[in-house]
This record gives sequence, structure tokens and C-alpha cells, in this order.
Amino acid sequence: MKHLMNVEGLSTMFYTEEGKVAAVDNVSFRVREGETVCIVGESGCGKSVTAMSIMGLIEEPGGRVTGGKIEFAGEDLLKLDKNTLRAIRGNEIAMIFQEPMSSLNPVMKIAEQIMEPLMVHLKMKKKAARERAIELIKQVGISRPEQIADSYPHELSGGMLQRIMIAVAVSCNPKLLIADEPTTALDVTIQAQILDMLREFKENSGMSILLITHDLGVVAEMADYVIVMYSGKIVEEGEVVELFKHPKHPYTRGLLKSKPVVGQRLEELYSIPGQVPNPLELEASCYFHDRCGDCMQVCRSRQPQLKELDSGQKVACWLYEEVEAHV
Ligand SMILES: Nc1ncnc2c1ncn2[C@@H]1O[C@H](COP(=O)(O)OP(=O)(O)OP(=O)(O)O)[C@@H](O)[C@H]1O
Ligand SMILES: [Mg+2]
Repeated sequence: MKHLMNVEGLSTMFYTEEGKVAAVDNVSFRVREGETVCIVGESGCGKSVTAMSIMGLIEEPGGRVTGGKIEFAGEDLLKLDKNTLRAIRGNEIAMIFQEPMSSLNPVMKIAEQIMEPLMVHLKMKKKAARERAIELIKQVGISRPEQIADSYPHELSGGMLQRIMIAVAVSCNPKLLIADEPTTALDVTIQAQILDMLREFKENSGMSILLITHDLGVVAEMADYVIVMYSGKIVEEGEVVELFKHPKHPYTRGLLKSKPVVGQRLEELYSIPGQVPNPLELEASCYFHDRCGDCMQVCRSRQPQLKELDSGQKVACWLYEEVEAHV
């Protein structure tokens, strides 16, 4: 499979009153054509900021992409001017969010919101765009598409709005769809329907998906490749089957252990002890060390680098470094 996007050394900072936050710190990964890459990790680990950096949505003076490159279809997105980036955004790269109302306009009819990108990016005429919009509403599994087309967002349920947002996102046949927790706010049945639909779009169009979630059930169902983030860094990555079968990083193991299984009582559910470190107080250490059952001396004073193992998985953990780890 060919590479569609190559993120290399991406670093994004926020400048807050309390100090600098390295929300994304030297993150590199690739997305191949037709592949679904999942980014997983607890709240605050930098998943959304990674997506927003790719979309060019980090705005100064509060935040800035301080380093790295994002090659997409051969061009570095970080070097493009605003207009070129805008043309790519919503056209070749589309994004959907957890909260549909953050990208839908409350005072615009549903049809118009789907028609807009078709008319702007694909230069469709109004009539053709409306026909296509109705077709898309049907494709995302909504019955009575004509009636829905002339509704306003507040007239629809959360699940329906999420479907509309997907219709807007896939309307211009993007090469990459970035989905940030697209089903977190929905109930389980609707969540499953939406994920099925995303998979179907992917299979029919060949688009790639960068899916952000904290839900390992979603990862197991959707991912080809998994990236595990912790405190702004990648701590482990690999093909989904390998990663679930042989998780290497104690954090990944903890995440997998905290995934509920059928028949388990709520009070039996495991959760990783402790909390993610304060991003303002990160030290030269493994950021996970004080939550880790395998913590060694070296973990408290030096940060492990991401390293490829024989299995092809990559892991940043002193357990997999020889000799010097045990000093
Ligand atoms: N606009 C901002 N200003 C300051 N800090 C920010 C801003 N946006 C994000 N951050 C910080 O960057 C870090 C990463 O945040 P991010 O939103 O990427 O987390 P996340 O992994 O998406 O979490 P969640 O699962 O809760 O969505 C956090 O420490 C967060 O507080
Ligand atoms: Mg987020």
C-alpha cells in the first residue's frame, strides 16, 4: 500500500498562563492508502491536538505547531498558505468531530450544508448539488431524505446529526477522513451502525481513516494499525492483531486490561492506578513511570525512545532496552 500521509516529528505547543504545554511531542506516523489508523489513549494525551495540527486548526498566539512536517500526497501541509490548505481541507482531507453541532450550522438547512462543499470544491451547480445531497442523506441510512434535507439541525436526533456530519465529510470523496471520537456521545446500537457505515464508505471509496478514540472496542473493530499515545508521545504502535495479542508497553497492557469483557461486573473492572502527569510538570523520565508496575531506576531519570522490535511493533519502554536499562 502507498503512503498517503507521512507525519514526521510533529510537535505542538500551547502557551498558557501557567506555562508551556507540549501537547504533541515529536510524533511520527504514516497512513497508507485505504488504511484505518487508530490513535488511542486516555484523556489529555494529545489525540485531538494531533488531528487539529494536521487540519491546520492550531491558532496562534495560544498554540503553535513548533516542529515537524506533515506530508500529504507529496506536499508538506505545514508549508502551505492558508488558501491552498483550505482547498485541501474539506475536500481531500475531511474531519468529523464528537459533537456534530461544532461543524454544522444551526441556522442552515441540512441540504444546504451538504451542498456547500459540493458547490465550493467540486464546482457543482445548485440543482445537481441538491440531488447529490439527497443521495448522500440516503446513503448515510436516513429514511425520508427529502424531508430531512429541508430540516434544520435542531429538528434531528444526535445519531442523525452524526450521520449528516459524515455525509458532509464524505461528500467530496476525501482521500483521508479524520474522525475524532465520532461515536463517543452515542448509544451503543447507533455507535455500531455509524462505525459500520464508516467502514462501508472506506471500502467503497478506498479512503483512509485516521480514527481517534479512547475505546479499545472501537479500535479492535476498525483499526488496521494502532498508535498508543501517552502525555503527548507515542509509547507503542503496531498492527492491530499483534498489538492486541502481544501488547508490549505496560500502559498498553493496562488499557487492554481495563477493557470490559462480557459478563464482567462493573466493580471488577480494572483501571490503571494513578493519573496522567500534569503537562506543565513533565520531567526527564518515562512519563508513565509512577503508574507502572514494572518501573525500574532508569525509568525515573531517562526517557525511553520509540524503538522497533523484531515483531515490527514499536515501543518506548526501558523493559525492551538491553543492559543500560538495568543500571
Ligand atoms: N487550546 C488549548 N490551550 C491550552 N492547552 C490545550 C489546548 N487544547 C489542548 N490543550 C492541552 O493539550 C493536551 C492534549 O489535549 P487533547 O485535546 O489533544 O487531548 P485528547 O487526547 O484529545 O483528550 P480527550 O480524550 O479528552 O479528547 C492536554 O493537556 C490539553 O489540556
Ligand atoms: Mg480529544
